[in-house]
Amino acid sequence: MISTPDGVIDVNGRSRPLGGPADQARLIALRGGAAVILVGAGTARTENYGPPSKAGLRIAVVTKSCALDFSSPLFSSGAGLVATTVNAPALSVDTVRAGDTDVDMAGIIAQLPHGIVHVEGGPMLNAALLDADCVDAINLTMSPRVGGFRGPSLSQAPHALRHFTCVSLTTDSDFVFARYEKVTTA
Ligand SMILES: NC(=O)c1ccc[n+]([C@@H]2O[C@H](COP(=O)([O-])OP(=O)(O)OC[C@H]3O[C@@H](n4cnc5c(N)ncnc54)[C@H](OP(=O)(O)O)[C@@H]3O)[C@@H](O)[C@H]2O)c1
Repeated sequence: MISTPDGVIDVNGRSRPLGGPADQARLIALRGGAAVILVGAGTARTENYGPPSKAGLRIAVVTKSCALDFSSPLFSSGAGLVATTVNAPALSVDTVRAGDTDVDMAGIIAQLPHGIVHVEGGPMLNAALLDADCVDAINLTMSPRVGGFRGPSLSQAPHALRHFTCVSLTTDSDFVFARYEKVTTA
């Protein structure tokens, strides 16, 4: 996720104006280590998600409504799959299902390719994952832009307060890249 210092995460529904080449390079590097990408349907729709450049990497879109454009390049390329409830309608694309009325995030993750599940937001999905205690690490980019439209925050409340520790802090081209990892008690 990328945020401005004053908490803005998108400009007119798009996060790209907050980023730049250094931020894009960081995102590509993170995707490079991922076994699968997980993204909320709202973000996939507003950010017009397409297939990733890394061959074989798949993008799982979390949705309850299943109101997605299955003719879009994300799905027609075979890169997209849907993560939804067991009661959602039958779909013509690859689907993983867990939970009756709400998507069971832990149940979904257990069915995804093993390895790093790289979550790319948005706020509603982040909150559900934090609420289910499914977040091991957070990669947060601080954008050098300030202002713009103030919409939702990085993680839409409510969810329990969780404690992470900062394990890495670097800068490049005025961007600050922070990595937090979950604090586990023995
Ligand atoms: N700055 C950043 O790094 C960054 C990153 C990502 C997104 N964003 C911004 O965030 C905005 C989109 O936010 P959003 O509020 O639409 O959040 P979102 O989490 O991307 O999408 C919300 C939608 O995704 C589905 N969804 C998410 N979590 C779910 C869950 N636990 N169970 C079932 N369905 C779930 C639902 O889709 P259905 O309605 O289909 O059921 C829900 O309506 C965009 O403007 C985008 O630019 C910013």
